[in-house]
Amino acid sequence: MIIRTRKSSDIPSSEITPESVYINRRKFLGASAGLGAAAFLSRDAAASPISTRQDDEPNTWEEITTHNNFYEFGLDKKDPSRNAHRLVTKPWTVKVDGLCKNPGDYQLEDFIKPSTIEDRIYRFRCVEAWSMVIPWRGFPLADVVNRAEPDPSARYVAFETLWDPEQMTERRWKPRIGWPYREGLRLDEAVHPLSLLVNGLYGKELPNQNGAPLRVIVPWKYGFKSIKSIVRMTFTEEEPPTTWATQSPGEYGFYSNVNPDVSHPRWSQATEKRIDGSKFFGHRRIDTLFLNGYADEVAHLYEGMDLQKYF
Ligand code: MTE
Repeated sequence: MIIRTRKSSDIPSSEITPESVYINRRKFLGASAGLGAAAFLSRDAAASPISTRQDDEPNTWEEITTHNNFYEFGLDKKDPSRNAHRLVTKPWTVKVDGLCKNPGDYQLEDFIKPSTIEDRIYRFRCVEAWSMVIPWRGFPLADVVNRAEPDPSARYVAFETLWDPEQMTERRWKPRIGWPYREGLRLDEAVHPLSLLVNGLYGKELPNQNGAPLRVIVPWKYGFKSIKSIVRMTFTEEEPPTTWATQSPGEYGFYSNVNPDVSHPRWSQATEKRIDGSKFFGHRRIDTLFLNGYADEVAHLYEGMDLQKYF
């Protein structure tokens, strides 16, 4: 497994790694092609050998923060960056409940504090067939799962986004199950070392349009599994209902692992459009990788499962 975790500190890495250094490092990342799936940055990362594929240069701050899906703030890709400033992220409480030993309402700071903050560069592949490469800042989802101490009967963890119509102004889109936006993971997926709770981007505070103050990132799954602005985690025995799988079960499954061989009913998933604002003639089209390039790390989670059926 190509995961290198380095101890970071509570000092925001923006004070350590200015964005210009990340950008310069793009050249370095490009030079060390073909070795790994996840690249990790930290205060001493410049000295460490970061490996990634040739095409895995991080997108710019501008690209990552102005091309978003956050339907609570509008359906257009630009809407979240225009409207999400209305979201009040301080104070923020996360409720942990369901089948676990340590349920409770946790202040965000208390939720984050015991964990070691890391910066990680991950591929991000939306089910709509566009993709980016994003330097997230966060900590393992496993930390909070383990601290909650799920009961032996718990097999899933469900997540819920805040729903406050005063702050979240979208009125046109009404999913049948309504908001809040819901997502979920199998417990073994949630505790996998690649699964992150994210509170930052490029070493800075996570912008509201990207899901502040706390979101999930599961890099081998389509982006809609990466639920934003979470206020609740619930441990369950049964597979929990999720927004898109409930809304359109023939198109979106609970697993939603990136798979170039399983087409969406309305489009192929074999390739993706890498968002790249620097390209004058539009974005690059590249092959989509099985499990978004993280197969070595996570394919064992699905051994014996028919991934055509469990999409
Ligand atoms: N979370 C909530 N609450 N609401 C949403 O509309 N959109 C999902 C996911 N999480 C969404 C959400 C989808 S479809 C994608 S592709 C990603 O967020 C987009 O994340 P980004 O805007 O940071 O790229």
